[in-house]
Amino acid sequence: MSNSALVDIDSLQISVRLSRTRRLKIVDYASMKINPGEMIGLIGESGSGKTMLCRALIGTLRRRDAYISGGSVMFDGMDLATAKNDVWRQVRGKRIGYVPQSALAGPNPVLTIEAQLLESLGGDETLSRADAKKRAKELLDIVQIRRPDIVMKQYPNQLSGGMKQRVMIACAIALQPELIVADEPTTGLDVTVQAEIMKLLKEIRDQFNTAIILVSHDLPLINDVCDQITVMHAGATVENIASAEIEKSKHPYTIALYKSRIDLAPPRGELITIAGQPPAVGAWQTGCRFNQRCDFVTDACLIGEHPKYIELSATHQTACINHAGIEAKIGSSL
Ligand SMILES: Nc1ncnc2c1ncn2[C@@H]1O[C@H](COP(=O)(O)OP(=O)(O)O)[C@@H](O)[C@H]1O
Ligand SMILES: [Mg+2]
Repeated sequence: MSNSALVDIDSLQISVRLSRTRRLKIVDYASMKINPGEMIGLIGESGSGKTMLCRALIGTLRRRDAYISGGSVMFDGMDLATAKNDVWRQVRGKRIGYVPQSALAGPNPVLTIEAQLLESLGGDETLSRADAKKRAKELLDIVQIRRPDIVMKQYPNQLSGGMKQRVMIACAIALQPELIVADEPTTGLDVTVQAEIMKLLKEIRDQFNTAIILVSHDLPLINDVCDQITVMHAGATVENIASAEIEKSKHPYTIALYKSRIDLAPPRGELITIAGQPPAVGAWQTGCRFNQRCDFVTDACLIGEHPKYIELSATHQTACINHAGIEAKIGSSL
């Protein structure tokens, strides 16, 4: 990968405080790079640590009593892992925008859409009130909200789920960030609305060259819109691969995720699911954490530390020590 990555997360570890003396590591071995203008999907089953990784990028870990306990999060040459509040004030919302999960957080219910957008634009001290209002309307245009003059005066409860998420995206891009972190932005929305929101994010990337990290547990959705895919399992990133190359995956977990795609299931056939459950945080086994669920497991997978990334190419890293023996067989009927 190039040295000019916008984001370079290296061997990131995140821990939580369970009590005054007890600490629990919930993410380790997390590494990923994001180039300027790149759209990268972060996928993995629930509980794998995706949200925690996002929080490291938007600086909200402490609010959940979690903290970075190792590794680095470089953003344009600054290490966010050790950044103080003054750095975060320059970065959060300005250079790194955030789109929350639609079902969990939305626009502030007591603010009109206009007030909400003006608040997001508040970080730009050079903007006059009149210019900010003009810009707020422009933002609604960018996120393709029709009749922006009317919508500006409305409250969130007057909007549909998809519209609300468009407003959240407008807020996230208000100050033209170089990176947008979108944590499951379409979970809970209708399938057609999901696709529209994904398309919108892609258009924003194309128009403004904004790098986007898009979190999902839905591989096909991500595979369609993203350039790169990073796969997380049990607190570790296990594969990074170009979307176009997904069929050449060299990690059994990615292959299993791909094969469990609903859209690949035969009409009356059974949906392939991944055997077993991911190991619970705090109960990670020795060796590879996928070893209990893996079709390709060997004795070497059961011992030692969780495998680190092996560089297969500039755009392909895998954490599988048996990668050479894996023919993805994604396209086969296996
Ligand atoms: N404050 C906390 N204390 C203990 N465990 C936590 C805390 N916050 C998150 N976790 C655990 O960390 C793991 C990773 O969580 P998360 O990043 O939200 O996963 P994902 O977004 O991939 O579903 C989960 O198993 C979750 O239960
Ligand atoms: Mg999450």
